Amino acid sequence: MCIRRFTPSITKEVHLIEVDIGRPLNHFSHKFKYDSLIADAQSVLEHAHTIEKKIETVDGQWYSMKVLPYFSKKNTLDGVVITFNDITDLKNLNEHLQLLSYAIEQSPISIAIFNVTGDIQYVNPQFMKQTGFSFDECVGKHLTELYPADFNEKFADIWDKVRSGETWAGEWKNTRKNGEFYWENVSILPITDEKNQSIYFLKVAEDVTERKKTENLLLESEMHSAVGQLAAGIAHEIRNPLTALKGFTQLMLTGSLNQEYIRIMQADLDRINLIVNELLFLSRPRAVEFEDKNIIAIVREVVGLLESQALMNNCEIVLELEVEKYTVRCVEHQMKQVFINLIKNAIEAMPKGGQITVTAQLLEDFISIQIRDEGCGIPDKMLSKIGQPFFTTKEKGTGLGLMVCQKIIQNHDGKLTIASKENEGTTLHIVLSR
Ligand SMILES: Nc1ncnc2c1ncn2[C@@H]1O[C@H](COP(=O)(O)OP(=O)(O)OP(=O)(O)O)[C@@H](O)[C@H]1O
Ligand SMILES: [Mg+2]
Repeated sequence: MCIRRFTPSITKEVHLIEVDIGRPLNHFSHKFKYDSLIADAQSVLEHAHTIEKKIETVDGQWYSMKVLPYFSKKNTLDGVVITFNDITDLKNLNEHLQLLSYAIEQSPISIAIFNVTGDIQYVNPQFMKQTGFSFDECVGKHLTELYPADFNEKFADIWDKVRSGETWAGEWKNTRKNGEFYWENVSILPITDEKNQSIYFLKVAEDVTERKKTENLLLESEMHSAVGQLAAGIAHEIRNPLTALKGFTQLMLTGSLNQEYIRIMQADLDRINLIVNELLFLSRPRAVEFEDKNIIAIVREVVGLLESQALMNNCEIVLELEVEKYTVRCVEHQMKQVFINLIKNAIEAMPKGGQITVTAQLLEDFISIQIRDEGCGIPDKMLSKIGQPFFTTKEKGTGLGLMVCQKIIQNHDGKLTIASKENEGTTLHIVLSR
């Protein structure tokens, strides 16, 4: 079986040239990974049928090859015609498509494709696994049929958005076929044609139910710890007047109790009463009432309350008040708590005694209040830790005093800053506005 004729394009494909005419077929058949070319040509010659095969060359090109019977003008079977059609690109494309389809089919992300009217065109196995619906229960159905009524409501806005060519992404709670709820992280995006027209919509979604559960647990535990911190803070506030009362009752036993001490005891009891009331308030945080109060009067009251305690520790509280009245919208007992905590810290910073200066200055639109001591100060490397819950250098401290102050001042839209120099002293600076 010899080559009789060929078209110019075959020269390019298998390098046939003029001199090959008359040469046997196997002269170029070795270029293909295909052993039965001669046998197939023989078979076509014998049976006058057509053989069609996809064959590959040794350099990786693919051809769709046809072997057809060739009839002469006299209608006698005179030979065979072999045509080669290069299908390498098509084959590569097919392979790509196949790869894509494998990826989509095996993706751990749920995928659905629907048309512009919202009819589902395709869902991948993960979608079916996630929703509990079978392929047939989804494909051909309208999106909204698949979901309960609340989803329809939710979907209307999203649908408008994606139809206008935008992508929608977010998280929503969805229902499985069995009625179970689950959380999805969803993106819905338009698939556009070359004219930029949306032809389909792609919904990709990841089941985030487990992550949501962990998030909620975390939030809950944070709430618990905040509530715990609060409780500890309040216990701390009650402990101080209780300690003082305990001291006075001991004095009572020795019979050396004067009127002044009774006044202080009364003040302490008032404070405990105040705190217990505060506790009731705090159990309903929204019930905390802000009132217009003279902050200078609050400072004076607290200083009055702590003066005796200061004196017992060889400390003197000096007031330098530039103004006598400055009205601030505040929760009075919370403000008192701040000044009590700060003055208590100042007293504790000066075990050998010293002066605590409380100043109030009017500055444009706000009031600046400073509490300055001449105590041990705070080393630089420790400053960043100050105000963190439970950070304390004191044997019996809770390390909550400053944190509570920070929270209260923040809630009053104010600022609390701290400046300190080791062995020289500390200044707590509060800024509040009307
Ligand atoms: N005026 C100050 N001078 C020096 N150090 C201070 C001063 N105020 C606070 N500190 C440091 O900051 C830490 C935290 O203070 P915070 O008031 O929050 O808790 P505490 O005083 O240790 O405990 P508690 O307030 O329960 O008695 C203190 O332990 C102390 O080391
Ligand atoms: Mg303290």
